Amino acid sequence: MTTAGRAGGDQRARPRGRPADLDRVLEGQRDGCREIGSELYARLLDRILERVHDPGPVRDLLAPHAADSFGSALALRFLGAVHRVVLEGRAPELGSHYPSVGGTPGPGLEDAFEATVAEHVAELAVRIADGVQTNEVGRSASLLGALLEVASLGLPLRVFEAGASAGLNLRWDYYRYEAGGTAFGDPASPVRFVDSWTSSAPRLDQPCLVVERRGCDRSPIDATTEDGRLTLRSYVWPDLVERFTRLDAAIEVARRVPAPVDAADAPGWVAERLARPAPGTSTVVMHSIVQQYLGREARQAMIDAIVAAGAAASPDAPLAWVRMEPGHDGAEVRCTIWPAGEERLLAISGYHGPPIRWVG
Ligand SMILES: C[S@@+](CC[C@H](N)C(=O)[O-])C[C@H]1O[C@@H](n2cnc3c(N)ncnc32)[C@H](O)[C@@H]1O
Repeated sequence: MTTAGRAGGDQRARPRGRPADLDRVLEGQRDGCREIGSELYARLLDRILERVHDPGPVRDLLAPHAADSFGSALALRFLGAVHRVVLEGRAPELGSHYPSVGGTPGPGLEDAFEATVAEHVAELAVRIADGVQTNEVGRSASLLGALLEVASLGLPLRVFEAGASAGLNLRWDYYRYEAGGTAFGDPASPVRFVDSWTSSAPRLDQPCLVVERRGCDRSPIDATTEDGRLTLRSYVWPDLVERFTRLDAAIEVARRVPAPVDAADAPGWVAERLARPAPGTSTVVMHSIVQQYLGREARQAMIDAIVAAGAAASPDAPLAWVRMEPGHDGAEVRCTIWPAGEERLLAISGYHGPPIRWVG
């Protein structure tokens, strides 16, 4: 099983622009969907694999993207575009199989999918070019331990997120986390994580003050609009229904907690944010499941900007780099805090959040 397989298709880093074999890409994503519990997408990818080389709409849609990088998650882009049509109520027959709109997967799923693809092929050909916009709030739980490590330095936090999508994880401190009799966050929060850690949990009973939160994204989403909500929902696997509940709860928080997300390319934005040290605060730059979308050069440029800013950090103005990116056995949460600059692996997590193995 590949990392991409385990991840359900949107997580594995692979150099941008390197052609990937279409069958292998789709099979890896099919296996990943099955492994994370989405039998619906696994079945659809089985059908897509049967059709991808035959003349017809599936081939017409996918063949032009055969050379797209593995990390760009072609299958999720395709399935997300179709899901959007379903969420908009424009494919009632397919919707009768999609739990995200109250359906139940049945024997006619694959045929209904093909009919929908054929009917909306022109629209899908446009949408399939959009990048994946899975803003997964479960990743806040994965990142929490690292963020609290930074908070334990005793200074208020400025939090900057690269590839923030709708910025839902920028509101991480407005969610509630409970484990082993301790807790962090707003007890009344509609977003709740209970016993997310498989063994020991990080120390949750810590004070933490965020004085600034801001993100950037190549294509930011305003989660408070109906269109933004629809886009975010379309990139959630339709049969993983608990994730819709969490997403809606996070959108509720987003309505009252501002967290601006600038439309900007990550490397330049990060360099700009970190150019001005802020004495008396800990500055955090964070990202989750973003590096694979950047491409090699941009990825290196972002890292260089962070390391350069780290060299200018001081005990009164520390810099922390908190990231959750694919590793060998799940997503790895790592943290480097300057001026010491020691990199630490703190947690290994599912690609969408819990379960989390805290190793810090
Ligand atoms: C899979 S999503 C992850 C979103 C969010 N970090 C999360 O964990 O929920 C990847 C995000 O990276 C953004 N992205 C990709 N390339 C980017 C770039 N060069 N600069 C800024 N954002 C980028 C995409 O638009 C998308 O929102």
